Amino acid sequence: MASSIKYFIGNWKMFGIPSSYKILVNINRYFYRDKKNNKKYKIIMAPPLTLLQDYSKKFKSSKIYISAQNCYHKDNFGSHTGQVSPFMIKKLGVKYVIIGHSENRESGETNEIIKEKVKIALKNNLIVIFCIGENKSEKRKKKTFGVLKRQILKVIKNKLSLRNIIIAYEPIWSIGTGMVPSKNELQKNTAMLKKFIKRKFRSNYNPRILYGGSVDKNSVKEFKSINEIDGFLIGGASKSSKNFIDIIKNFYK
Ligand code: PGA
Repeated sequence: MASSIKYFIGNWKMFGIPSSYKILVNINRYFYRDKKNNKKYKIIMAPPLTLLQDYSKKFKSSKIYISAQNCYHKDNFGSHTGQVSPFMIKKLGVKYVIIGHSENRESGETNEIIKEKVKIALKNNLIVIFCIGENKSEKRKKKTFGVLKRQILKVIKNKLSLRNIIIAYEPIWSIGTGMVPSKNELQKNTAMLKKFIKRKFRSNYNPRILYGGSVDKNSVKEFKSINEIDGFLIGGASKSSKNFIDIIKNFYK
């Protein structure tokens, strides 16, 4: 059984200036108006680092939660030019951080670094949105499940941390491409992941697993009947309030 709360998480990537907060104002307004369903889901938005402080203040008492898109793998302060630690992020009032996104893995982030990031983020009481996913050639060679298992085992170290980690399954080949897995495939992978995690960590806790990769108002219709999915990590479609709201609308239609 999936946890009852669904997550709609937006990842703005390299997008947004101070005035872009209007997008979030619209989404927040929709949330309040959506009395029929708004107890069933949570909205989290990840703007770039430059907007974290401003937005976490602006939306402090709203229903939009703010997430960072990444963090450094060392804590507190240090001689790391251009880097920001989980401690510094937490001090802004931010509650979530995305770690292990494939775009960061591609620019050199290893499982080892990701493990450190997750460890320190959890230590600073951030909730981690931990991204995993196979690439096209791994999928073609039917290695998907082995890849996902390895990514999890290299990073998640104990069952207690599972409560503060939300896993985002994002097949790399589906990010920003308009290609999505078939409903069967996605359901099979999510169910297998849940079963594997529970067994491996000897946990009764039902891990939260989101899907990410070309989620929009159309693809969400296809996925909404997959009970194992606890929500979505949304890139491109999170940059417009209309597109983001349409995803929620279609999910509950
Ligand atoms: P996309 O991005 O929705 O634009 O495919 C998803 C992501 O990278 O998290």
